[in-house]
Amino acid sequence: MTGLPGWLAGALRAKLENVARSELRTSAQRMSERYRAGGGSDVIRSERDALAYAVVRMPATYAAVRAALGQTADVIPDFAPQSLLDVGAGPGTASWAALDAWPSLEQAMLLDTNPHLLALATAFGQSAPITPAATRDNLAAALGSATGADVVMASYVLAELAGGALAGALERLWRLSERLLLIVEPGTPDGFRRILACRDALIARGAWLIAPCSHEGRCPLAGADRWCHFNARLPRSRDHLAAKDADVPYEDEKFAYLVAGKGFGALARGHRILTTPKVDKSAVTLTLCTPETPEQRRIARGDKDAYRAAKRLDWGDAIA
Ligand SMILES: C[S@@+](CC[C@H](N)C(=O)[O-])C[C@H]1O[C@@H](n2cnc3c(N)ncnc32)[C@H](O)[C@@H]1O
Repeated sequence: MTGLPGWLAGALRAKLENVARSELRTSAQRMSERYRAGGGSDVIRSERDALAYAVVRMPATYAAVRAALGQTADVIPDFAPQSLLDVGAGPGTASWAALDAWPSLEQAMLLDTNPHLLALATAFGQSAPITPAATRDNLAAALGSATGADVVMASYVLAELAGGALAGALERLWRLSERLLLIVEPGTPDGFRRILACRDALIARGAWLIAPCSHEGRCPLAGADRWCHFNARLPRSRDHLAAKDADVPYEDEKFAYLVAGKGFGALARGHRILTTPKVDKSAVTLTLCTPETPEQRRIARGDKDAYRAAKRLDWGDAIA
């Protein structure tokens, strides 16, 4: 389970001190309805709405980005970036996950149009290991003049760009990425379609894929009846449970993602496990992403060492 780091959970609790929980719940419910109907975060129009986002969505998007970064670090463990650009940063979620994954970061720039989310990001930044700079601007306008960074991140943003804006934004994001571009989207068929479109466009621009893919050829799930996505489990705080009227103390966030890099050379990327491994008395069965088509690999109990190792594997891990 991946929870918010202590400093962020504490900063959020401090912001909630004088907020009526009934109001928080009203905001959270309105936001959920809007997201479920396919809308975006333009529903966040006040400080209270931004806090509701931080209570009910930030823990999930944090867990998703942190999981994607963990899978990335397995492929490039020595990468130690210094600068970060987080577009559509909201309350800074992806930056906070990046600071946890890469303590080497010295500078972060957050970009967003929403003043309430950006104000919250700035407030959280006072408690963060480094204090980011925040700019309120539209991505389309700002990216033309933004300075590059080692890592550029777009977490749960692409769905909110007006139709047709994705290709232009992606081209600029890639240009600004000095080493790595990370895109995270909801783990839905639509989210995966956007990831796939980015994958094709980035490969056409010479990108080297770091994760979750093991190659730059055609995605074996393009046009298939399944889609590439992963799961991050997160704990729900008392406020989170109350705002959602929920009683299960954890949540599963499904996400799709892509990490493209520059200048990493040949990497041992392995084959990604595409769903929860099936374990029974006789074998562990893994569904693996291989270049042509997803492959079922059965590791029989009789093969003791391999079976023991396979039992420790999880959805999203990569194996040789
Ligand atoms: C669903 S939120 C994601 C926030 C954060 N990245 C996260 O993962 O929790 C989408 C964010 O994208 C921002 N956004 C949407 N369109 C944008 C645009 N054209 N320029 C800048 N920010 C934008 C919204 O204001 C919002 O903060």
